[in-house]
Amino acid sequence: MPLASDARFVPCKAFTDQKMGTAGLRKKVRVLAQPHYLEMFLQAVFESLRLPKGATLVVGGDGRFHNDVAVQVILRMAMAAGVRHVIAGRGGLLSTPAASCLIRERRADGGFLLTASHNPGGPDGDFGIKFNTASGGQAPAQLTDAIYSASCRLIGYRICDTAPFDLQRIGTSDRDGFTIEVVDPVAAYEQTMQQLFDFDLLRNWLRNGHRIAFEAMHGVTGPYAQRILVDSLGASAGDIWHADPRPDFGGLHPDPNPVDAHALVDLCTAADAPDLAAASDGDGDRNMILAHRFLLSPGDSIAMILANADCVPGFRNGISGVARSMPTSRALDAVAAALGISCYETPTGWRYFCNLLESGRIDLCGEESFGTGSSHAREKDGLWAVLCWMSVLAKRNESLPAIATAHWRRYGRHYYQRHDYEIDDAAAGEAVVAGLRDRVPAMPGTRCGGAQIAQADDFHYRDPVDGSESARQGIRVIIDGGRRIVYRLSGTGTTGATLRVYLEQHEMRPERLNDDPDRVLAPLGTLARETADIERVTGLGAPSTRI
Ligand code: G1P
Ligand code: ZN
Repeated sequence: MPLASDARFVPCKAFTDQKMGTAGLRKKVRVLAQPHYLEMFLQAVFESLRLPKGATLVVGGDGRFHNDVAVQVILRMAMAAGVRHVIAGRGGLLSTPAASCLIRERRADGGFLLTASHNPGGPDGDFGIKFNTASGGQAPAQLTDAIYSASCRLIGYRICDTAPFDLQRIGTSDRDGFTIEVVDPVAAYEQTMQQLFDFDLLRNWLRNGHRIAFEAMHGVTGPYAQRILVDSLGASAGDIWHADPRPDFGGLHPDPNPVDAHALVDLCTAADAPDLAAASDGDGDRNMILAHRFLLSPGDSIAMILANADCVPGFRNGISGVARSMPTSRALDAVAAALGISCYETPTGWRYFCNLLESGRIDLCGEESFGTGSSHAREKDGLWAVLCWMSVLAKRNESLPAIATAHWRRYGRHYYQRHDYEIDDAAAGEAVVAGLRDRVPAMPGTRCGGAQIAQADDFHYRDPVDGSESARQGIRVIIDGGRRIVYRLSGTGTTGATLRVYLEQHEMRPERLNDDPDRVLAPLGTLARETADIERVTGLGAPSTRI
């Protein structure tokens, strides 16, 4: 172990803005890279953790700007905190799901994940850090609260002065009793995928003339897609786009949605579109699934994976239950009900699924924000979702649109969209939600868009595993006839406020199953804007984006 004298105490004033949101601590690079900022956050984490003596941690990130600097700081502070062993991805890279799997597999005491997910990178972009516990999942609210209060009262941090660690060479080295193990970021993850999927089936599907295109958006998944889809399964290398991770994501906004990954959408309008097209985000936990002239909504994706779980070997023992975040469409509930399994509704943020996964209550979960995952990890997993869909297509030997249409005929279609209002003034965003909150108690029974409001509330969650309560998780307005509007403020933005308005409309009529979601949901979008008085309070007469 390093001698106490090796670790230096650096006095510093506290930073009081280090509260982790739905996905860790996320800030502009210029904030997180200011002197002592990251160090003080790490000190707050180490003080709150009370790690066992000789602890092991996993470290890696999505390769965005500042990733390299931050990894070295983490190593020097881990040394000062008495950590014995750190497992790092080569080049400081690990996708978020791969890091989660690695923590679990190596029985580490936790890990630091460096990412701001799909937020832009580069010196003017965002950076982020989160701590995942030994379960592989994000720190629970009690721990993030403890870290936040520690960060507010700290008077300095401890760090070892030592030369930079070489993270390019795979292997284990020792420095003063501190072991740094550099691993191939893909190897262990690929092994896990081999256990969950029938690689021979997928290989044959591609060999028989089917095609997959994958948009890595210069995020961390490029090397994962290259190794698994190309080297192992035989996809064509030219069909993996933007496969090299770059600190600024090549100027792309690495978010797998139809707006930011429009090139993939364009590819899918061509006559020779691939059978399956997919994109992932900066840190590899999100996924978007497309096919010829077809975009699969994330809520439908998880519902259809459940309905086709017999195509995925990882689900060979069945699915105990499923969960979705509250704003996610209720398409999943319909399939769960038909199968007679529980469907849990949780607040937004993957961390709420973790207790359910850990306790064995669920094996599959997802969010409308292009996140899908299973009990193999405690994070959502983009490439896993892509392999699920390849498996369903290969096993059923049908096209994605054909599978979706058959699904809707049976369960009806949950037309779904999210309208985001980017509001410069954060207070105006708060005011919209506060106004709604005041009106919610009087809403049930009143008329709305020609129908009656059946239920309106501010979602309150009680965790069925540990009983913890999470209040004010979003306003939901349920309208008779299968319509629903949900309002909440984003917890991941770094400037102003983003008001998210989620629209859902259930349709059973067979002749209305293949309509344009924009057209179907336009009236509900207007109704949502009027009900919340968005234009008067924010000045915005239309959403900034419709996803
Ligand atoms: C967004 C998504 C949410 C997801 C989170 C982290 O959070 O909406 O589903 O868990 O990113 O990836 P939000 O900005 O809405 O708080
Ligand atoms: Zn992400």
